[in-house]
Amino acid sequence: MSAADGPDGGSAAAPSRQREHWGTRLGFVLAAAGSAVGLGNIWKFPYVTGENGGGAFLIIYLAIIGTLGISILLAELVIGRTAQKNPVGAFRQLGGTRWRVAGWMCVLGAFAILSFYTVIAGWTIAFAVKTASGRLTAPGADTEAIFESFVSDPVWPLLYAAIFMALTVAVVIGGIRRGIERVSLVLMPLLFLILIALVVRAVTLPGAMEGLLFFLAPDFSKVTGGTITAALGQAFFSLSIGMGAMITYGSYLERKAHIAGSAASVVGLDTLVAILAGLIVFPAVFAVGLRPEGGPGLVFVTLPAVFAAMPASAVFGTLFFLLLTIAALTSSISILEPAVAYFVDEHNLKRSRVTILCGVIAFALGIPSSFSLGIWSDYTLFGKGFLDIMDFLTANIMLPAGGFLIALFVGWVMGPRAIEALAPNTALGLWLARLWLYGLRFIAPAAIAWVLISGLI
Ligand code: PHE
Repeated sequence: MSAADGPDGGSAAAPSRQREHWGTRLGFVLAAAGSAVGLGNIWKFPYVTGENGGGAFLIIYLAIIGTLGISILLAELVIGRTAQKNPVGAFRQLGGTRWRVAGWMCVLGAFAILSFYTVIAGWTIAFAVKTASGRLTAPGADTEAIFESFVSDPVWPLLYAAIFMALTVAVVIGGIRRGIERVSLVLMPLLFLILIALVVRAVTLPGAMEGLLFFLAPDFSKVTGGTITAALGQAFFSLSIGMGAMITYGSYLERKAHIAGSAASVVGLDTLVAILAGLIVFPAVFAVGLRPEGGPGLVFVTLPAVFAAMPASAVFGTLFFLLLTIAALTSSISILEPAVAYFVDEHNLKRSRVTILCGVIAFALGIPSSFSLGIWSDYTLFGKGFLDIMDFLTANIMLPAGGFLIALFVGWVMGPRAIEALAPNTALGLWLARLWLYGLRFIAPAAIAWVLISGLI
């Protein structure tokens, strides 16, 4: 340990094997965009927007994404690419032993997020099956009752979660190029095709206009302190920042890789998909006369009703839930990877074994989340069940806190080294790089602390 612990001291026990790298720049961008684009965009973004008043929330969200979001995403990529290590190893190598804590927070966050993420991703597979069988879109089907009875069941949701976790583990075992990159190169374009088809269908529904107005026309009277906390949490969750997923993906970049442009592409794609999801969900919700404040069930309850009112309902419905599964898979692999990379890099364990073990642990941690909607629904804290608490704690507290540390780390500990890491090969002008660094030093930590503290009070 000793010599390895100082800043820049490479780990004495560094494995002799070469670190794997992304095959192509496009492969990396699609994998990182695949991480960002997920349930956060298509399941969570519409209902959080719906609960927070629509257009006004959208504007605040976009402002956060364009400033804090992109800056911290770039900061994570810089940390990862410079250190060529998992979050724990990277913080230690660049900042000394004390900073390992920040890395451990990342690994912990990975397990926490993956546990409930898998449960919801399991629902998407179940609903793809239910729509394909025609049950959900049958005339007169009570989609709300079907959703409630499914999620409160003690067994079925867990079985589907197990299937989803098995898929995630299978891809991560494949490694970077043959697993994550290959899957992203196929699935991401497919996801865009399905999205576009659904947007065209949704905005041409009779009555779609009302939904478009709700989503795009801001009404600032609905904005409260809670809206800003929600927008910050949503931005971090959606961009996959604050828990080291992007540090880990960045660590598989060659040292000479361009990253500013890639970061911008990832942010652009993630935001595009969130907006497209809004363009599908809100017109659809209003077209069938439902309300946008539907909460976590929004896409599961309202969209099948929309599909039912369309020709070829089973086809569109199945496509949509398949889309959700795909988006969730390219994200869940990036949530698992930081933990796996930690055990592989730091403890020299075998990738396949560690991946399975981490998957099993995260699955077990997800069981209370699933039960909290059914047999454990009586156990609540501040009126929230376990799943809601996990979601709130991770997105609204852990990720912003992680982002706070990452901003301080790159701003103060790496400092000018971070600009050097960008400078030789980026289109980013020097003044913009300096602005980025000052933003990370002062503005980002202050803004995050302010939102976190005011949110807690
Ligand atoms: N960004 C993913 C989504 O939108 C979720 C995620 C969060 C992935 C944190 C990695 C890290 O669904």
